[in-house]
Amino acid sequence: MKYDFTSIIDRRGKDATAVDAAGKRVWGFEPGAPMDGFDFIPMWVADMNFKTCPAITEAIIRRAQHPLFGYFQPKDVYYDSIIRWQEERNHVTGLSRENIGYENGVHGFISSAIDVLTQPGDKIFLHRPYYVGFIGDIIGKGRRPVYSDLKKDEHGFWRMDYEDMERQIRKNHVRLAIFCSPHNPCGRVWTREEIEKAMDVFQKNDCLVISDEIWSDLTYTGHSHVPTQMVSDWAREHVLAAYAPSKTFNLAGLIGSYHIIYNQALNEKITRFSENTHYNEMNVFSEHALIAAYSSEGQEWTDELRSVLEDNCRTAVDFMKEHFEGVDVSMPEGTYMLFLDCTDFCRRTGRTIDQVLRAGWNVGVGWQTGRAFGGECHIRVNLALPKARLMEALERMRKYVFTNEETAAYTYEATKAEPDKGAVEATTNHASVNTRAIKNTISETSQADRIMNVDSGADEMGQAKAADKTTDATGGTDESVQNREAAGSDADPEDFTADWIYNEEGLLMVSDDRNRDLTVEAVKKLLGDHPVEECHLAAFVNGDIVGNRDMQEAQNYGRILQNSGLTITELFTEEECVKLRQIGIF
Ligand SMILES: Cc1ncc(COP(=O)(O)O)c(C=O)c1O
Repeated sequence: MKYDFTSIIDRRGKDATAVDAAGKRVWGFEPGAPMDGFDFIPMWVADMNFKTCPAITEAIIRRAQHPLFGYFQPKDVYYDSIIRWQEERNHVTGLSRENIGYENGVHGFISSAIDVLTQPGDKIFLHRPYYVGFIGDIIGKGRRPVYSDLKKDEHGFWRMDYEDMERQIRKNHVRLAIFCSPHNPCGRVWTREEIEKAMDVFQKNDCLVISDEIWSDLTYTGHSHVPTQMVSDWAREHVLAAYAPSKTFNLAGLIGSYHIIYNQALNEKITRFSENTHYNEMNVFSEHALIAAYSSEGQEWTDELRSVLEDNCRTAVDFMKEHFEGVDVSMPEGTYMLFLDCTDFCRRTGRTIDQVLRAGWNVGVGWQTGRAFGGECHIRVNLALPKARLMEALERMRKYVFTNEETAAYTYEATKAEPDKGAVEATTNHASVNTRAIKNTISETSQADRIMNVDSGADEMGQAKAADKTTDATGGTDESVQNREAAGSDADPEDFTADWIYNEEGLLMVSDDRNRDLTVEAVKKLLGDHPVEECHLAAFVNGDIVGNRDMQEAQNYGRILQNSGLTITELFTEEECVKLRQIGIF
């Protein structure tokens, strides 16, 4: 290899969320910190533990040596580099400068496209599993996601279900879809035929498409990226594509992506929106980085990277298939993510996915909950790290996680904090600190019982207060759980399940995340009548306690509720919820 993909670089304290956020709360789905004696191996957020292409570092240093950083316009070579890269890597023809626009990250682009193309309350189509960031983009803008599930076929390949896509789009009157190609986290590099079929569905239903192709450079042997816009005349005119050098060259911290939009009217709309708001200005280092990345040296570096990543994926998949009984994993066709399905492992061993995740985190395997990506019993694993670290992580998984033996790795962090106490007692103490004002048990109620009636809440809320006074810290009583019916909403009350407790100190809301909008409406009404100073939010899915995805959703609720003037003082992490469940709060 000409380039260095083997050095193990200490990223601690060097602007690296991937390592510095372990055990902290940043986005809501960080891995836990390791136990003493284990170092942390970052295998979660989608950046790489490799140095970038040397041409990029050199270009940035060169530019920094000219110490004036005033306003500037992107150079012609910026656009020419993109056009050449797209021609040579993706066989794109007919691309001109007018079709390209700088974007402040793919998220920046998606957010503006959502603003320009939809209205608050509109529904936006996604495949599930999904890239977690899309959910934030959609909900953060007051829109709602609609899903069609990808399904694994008999060979372990994730497939789109075109009939279901059509059904979901029609039923929900969807006019905008986000299509992820190649797919994170499932690792599919969609074939031309698959993309054509998906576009047929969107075309039939008059649905514009944002095609997120940030992973397009990272494909493996036998799989090449097909730009969505190239599959038909309709796609060329109705698909808005996003690309970036950031995944390929490990440049996420520099910010910088770009759109390709052939439809002149759409391009003007999007461009005008971001120009008017001035939020979308390019950083000069990002410009120089892209030009260097999309050079011939960048091409060569990318090809070496792809072979390193492919080897890592093959090694990890083979190792897992051989040693991790009950873990379903298939070789990705692109990206550097694995999406492990642990359903069988959990069923066989009686463990929860949270225990499995925690067992990995305890020994420094910095993987990430799949719930954040729409996989209930899944784990997402980032394989962009030197092989030696990968092998170390796989060995730790084998020894401490995917084993039938009960090991120290299965204790919770609370045990560490109070080593002289048993796990349950320590956990209970820890949890009671976190729950503070929440002194009640939410009982297991039937679906019908959990229906919530916000309009008739006033009297019952008084009862909740009274009942609350009689409860102790961990025992709780059922009387303090108020279950009401969702009257007054135009949505189907059948759709709305939520449990909540309310007392002088605050509100704890536990809601089914499928009913986010109803929940937010309900909480707003509730708070309108009964102001509280604190709000504790958690969520559960299908009767199971929150995962990290729901933490993010709780944050999204939090954001919306803050706009209603409420101070959110406590959101629960997945870990805290596990503890709450252990002591019977949920
Ligand atoms: C599919 C996808 N889109 C977008 C992003 C983030 O893009 P950006 O950092 O340019 O906003 C990621 C990062 O993991 C991703 O996987």
